[in-house]
Amino acid sequence: MRPAQKQRSPAAFDQSLSGGISLVPCLRPMVESDIDSVVNLIARAMNLDEGNQARDTFAFHFSCKRYGIDDGRTYYVLPGPAALKGIAGLHHYHWGPQENVWLAWFALDPSLHGQGLGKFLLEAVATKARGLGFTKFFIETYSTPAFARARAFYQAQGFTQAGSIHSYLPDGGNMVVFSKDLTIDA
Ligand SMILES: CC(C)(COP(=O)(O)OP(=O)(O)OC[C@H]1O[C@@H](n2cnc3c(N)ncnc32)[C@H](O)[C@@H]1OP(=O)(O)O)[C@@H](O)C(=O)NCCC(=O)NCCS
Repeated sequence: MRPAQKQRSPAAFDQSLSGGISLVPCLRPMVESDIDSVVNLIARAMNLDEGNQARDTFAFHFSCKRYGIDDGRTYYVLPGPAALKGIAGLHHYHWGPQENVWLAWFALDPSLHGQGLGKFLLEAVATKARGLGFTKFFIETYSTPAFARARAFYQAQGFTQAGSIHSYLPDGGNMVVFSKDLTIDA
């Protein structure tokens, strides 16, 4: 079992990092020129395949935007002094319930993992989701070992397992869905 830790405020977190660099989450909307940096970040935080899938997702999203089509997707980046530090997306399916939204492409620069920044990034994007009027927040993740850290992380942030789809992945891994009611702890 992991030892209990004191709750860190964004300010305390900021001071705890060396170099006096401010990393308090301050999301800004992703723009098309961020694609290469974000894909690079996802490839390093996860793997090259995920990076390539993310590139396709962003290419589709920004093509839609150019034609004035709302694809229900919103992406935010966490800027750093030199490179982007994080990415967090929201996917709303127009054919689904109005109040539902899914977390998408959620990743931090690997050099920042395990320092509490993921918690703040998730809170920041949940706040964006509330601001857009969503009340039910879902996350698609997987049963495979590569996602063990993410599963533990989401559970620690108050998400509960809502269900799973057996053998969803080509390697036999399950899709695991987590959910959280955004009207609680707002
Ligand atoms: C998932 C991710 C964003 C988490 O960010 P992070 O900054 O590493 O996580 P944090 O340090 O904020 O962890 C917050 C809390 O989650 C829990 N947690 C994190 N890792 C954990 C682990 N391995 N086991 C158990 N609990 C864990 C803890 O409660 C922790 O709080 P504490 O440090 O006060 O104990 C980050 O690891 C990441 O980018 N991973 C690669 C991309 C990825 O897998 N994305 C998810 C796809 S579904």
